[in-house]
Amino acid sequence: MLPYKSLIQVDRKAAVTLYIQVCNQFIALITNGTMRPSDALPSSRVLSELIGINRHTVRLAYEELISQGWAESIERKGIFVLSKLPILSKNKLPESNRDARPNEAFAWTNRFKGAAPGESLQRSGLAIDDGFPDVRLAPVDQLMREYRSISRRHYGKNFLKYGSTKGSEHLRASISGYLSQTRGLVVSTENMLITKGSQMGIYLASQLLLEPSDHIAVGMSNYKTADETFRHAGASLLRIPVDHNGMDVDYLEKALVSTKIKAVYIIPHHHCPTTVTMSVERRLKLLDLAKAHRFAIIEDDYDFDFHYDNKPYLPLASIDHNQNVIYIGSISKTFAPALRVGFMTGPPTFIEAAASLRLLIDRQGDTLLEEAFAVMYDTGEMERHFRKSLRIYKQRRNLFCQILQSDFNDVLDFKVPEGGLAVWTNFVAEIDLVKLSVDAFKNGLYVGNGSFGRNESFSTNAMRLGFASLEEKEMVEALSLLKKTVQQPHSTH
Ligand SMILES: Cc1ncc(COP(=O)(O)O)c(C=O)c1O
Repeated sequence: MLPYKSLIQVDRKAAVTLYIQVCNQFIALITNGTMRPSDALPSSRVLSELIGINRHTVRLAYEELISQGWAESIERKGIFVLSKLPILSKNKLPESNRDARPNEAFAWTNRFKGAAPGESLQRSGLAIDDGFPDVRLAPVDQLMREYRSISRRHYGKNFLKYGSTKGSEHLRASISGYLSQTRGLVVSTENMLITKGSQMGIYLASQLLLEPSDHIAVGMSNYKTADETFRHAGASLLRIPVDHNGMDVDYLEKALVSTKIKAVYIIPHHHCPTTVTMSVERRLKLLDLAKAHRFAIIEDDYDFDFHYDNKPYLPLASIDHNQNVIYIGSISKTFAPALRVGFMTGPPTFIEAAASLRLLIDRQGDTLLEEAFAVMYDTGEMERHFRKSLRIYKQRRNLFCQILQSDFNDVLDFKVPEGGLAVWTNFVAEIDLVKLSVDAFKNGLYVGNGSFGRNESFSTNAMRLGFASLEEKEMVEALSLLKKTVQQPHSTH
């Protein structure tokens, strides 16, 4: 007899009834070849004793198996796997399925080399992240109140139906008002698509602007997922150096003599990974180049709202009179990353095409959530949240940099970032960042290993250290664990 005690496991807390759980697990044993046609099932008495459930529940499970056509009852003999089922070759258990000979239909998945899928960062415990917001500051209760209140209203029921692929008209109007007040960017709702975070905007723009063999200019160091997105569109990357004033536009100008480009991707506030802000002079020159060489600018301004020391510079999109700029922003980065709402602005025909493309993979966003965010903008709640976060993040940045300065002076150097949620730290060559990350984890601290910031043309012994999501006490503790790890002899080569 098969070891049913370990093969059939029920979970009394699960939403699925017990007899269906038993039935489904028998089906799995049949389809993976563990049970074969005409094999006998254990009697209801035996199985109920083995797995500790009521005999009646086992009978219900067997009846279900019979009614679904997996088993048959033979008088005075018992219950058997249906004899007429095709013989299924015995598959190994799921973890071994990787060894199975791949079906050629899936061949492309083996060739596809995108960025590694995002890992869950929903862990508890101390972490120095890549520069993410402190989700505890987000007025989520308020947002959820609005969400519930809209869903209860008569007109709110409409938001449960299919809505516009471009996103809630109300949210587009609210964000458009906010963009105009905060950064002089005047766009109508026709010029805007609500996305699921900036990444969707980057993807849609890349698919619409780039064709195989096109070139796109990107920073020598760059946001890795954007690089992969452009490569996925078939484009080649033209790497342009990035210094303390952002992308070196003079270098780009020279490169344009020999290479025609379709687009430039920039993160002017604040470059990822190095956190620098692009100067006004370079912004203006880049706009001129776009006009002269007829390329598009993809402006990823996910960090605009968090600029500490002076007023943030106007986005290129606000000064562009030639409709060459696609402007991308995200509520996910300023509120909470798991709430996937962002936006993209551009010429109406571009936005129309982006909506048509988005439709192919995602009919629309969560309209109720978008409506709730719209109310949060209209009531000034979003602005209050940004102002409060800005004040707190600035304090955190200052403390974080003070501690780095005083306690890590001998192992790293950095510039205090004017904005954003992370510090770009250059470690001395003796510190092996991969080992540092592993050792820190053993000491109870998550910290990256710098690999996300590197690429084929940019490899420094550096990484982003995010300060925004750490309260003062957590920050002190996290940095003291980092220091302890740095001082361990095995953290070095
Ligand atoms: C430069 C940059 N752009 C875009 C994104 C994606 O943000 P979102 O969560 O809004 O998709 C990130 C996320 O880390 C980023 O660093």
